[in-house]
Amino acid sequence: MEMTLGLKWSDVTPKPQWMNRRQLMAGAGALMAAPVGAQSGMAQTGLAKSPYSTDAAPNTLSEITTYNNFYEFGLDKGDPARNARLLTTDPWAVEISGLVDRPGSYDLADILQGAPLEERIYRFRCVEAWSMVIPWVGFELAHLLNKAGVQPGAKYVAFETLVRPEEMPGQQTRSLDWPYREGLRLDEAMHPLTILATGLYGEPMPNQNGAPIRLVVPWKYGFKSIKSIVSIRLTDTQPQTTWNMQNAREYGFYSNVNPEVSHPRWSQASERRVGAGIFAGREDTLMFNGYGDQVASLYAGMDLSKDF
Ligand code: MTE
Repeated sequence: MEMTLGLKWSDVTPKPQWMNRRQLMAGAGALMAAPVGAQSGMAQTGLAKSPYSTDAAPNTLSEITTYNNFYEFGLDKGDPARNARLLTTDPWAVEISGLVDRPGSYDLADILQGAPLEERIYRFRCVEAWSMVIPWVGFELAHLLNKAGVQPGAKYVAFETLVRPEEMPGQQTRSLDWPYREGLRLDEAMHPLTILATGLYGEPMPNQNGAPIRLVVPWKYGFKSIKSIVSIRLTDTQPQTTWNMQNAREYGFYSNVNPEVSHPRWSQASERRVGAGIFAGREDTLMFNGYGDQVASLYAGMDLSKDF
């Protein structure tokens, strides 16, 4: 791990450089001349497309940044956009611990150093039965785990969000048992679809979407995609996860998108695309949110109605 004494990650990784590296990763310098404004990120600039990206049209930046779940900032969909402004995201460090060769506090600059950033346009399905399509910028979680050196005994990865009640008003209440916690099996964490996202629409991550770094696991319900991560721990036992702790009957550890397994209080067979308008019908929800070709094999032999 490199030392960045006294430097913030944004000093080390100013936006132009970040953009350049991103462009390199996308294999196109053409964006240099293209405007990157509120609605004109890579999603609309015709860059070489990741084979992992969907062809579906992304939601607008406004939809993605004003309709959020981030209980640290309140329970209403508009609360994160209103309240997350004051979150300090720089400096930022992530503690990597447990069964790794190189544990320690990694400054975000160290994490981004050499990280192969690329755009991933992913379908996003919330357990509440709404969905969006989001053009994330990020890199594969496997890249960071390999950098830390996963030890042979590791079987799971546990994540935690920042606890800072003075900047996160929702944490002044007991709406959840803080910190927000999530977890993945190691093979899920190492899967190339699993990314750590640091931006969307070609811009740094808005606070309400989990700045400066959050998980995105597109075949699982959105609550698995934990925001504003400060801790990543490799373990040999299945970690506790926030919504499972809250209500184990309703929220399992795996939480793979599955139209055949209803939530006890509503069907998961269909979904409402945010922003589609009142005349648009609901869409059928797809097994593994449409990523079954890539991930179904991870669950071979499991009973997904029991291990939900
Ligand atoms: N991460 C934290 N720390 N706190 C949260 O409340 N909400 C989850 C997930 N990650 C949440 C979180 C839920 S329920 C969803 S649907 C997604 O974030 C929403 O992500 P978005 O607001 O970027 O669409």
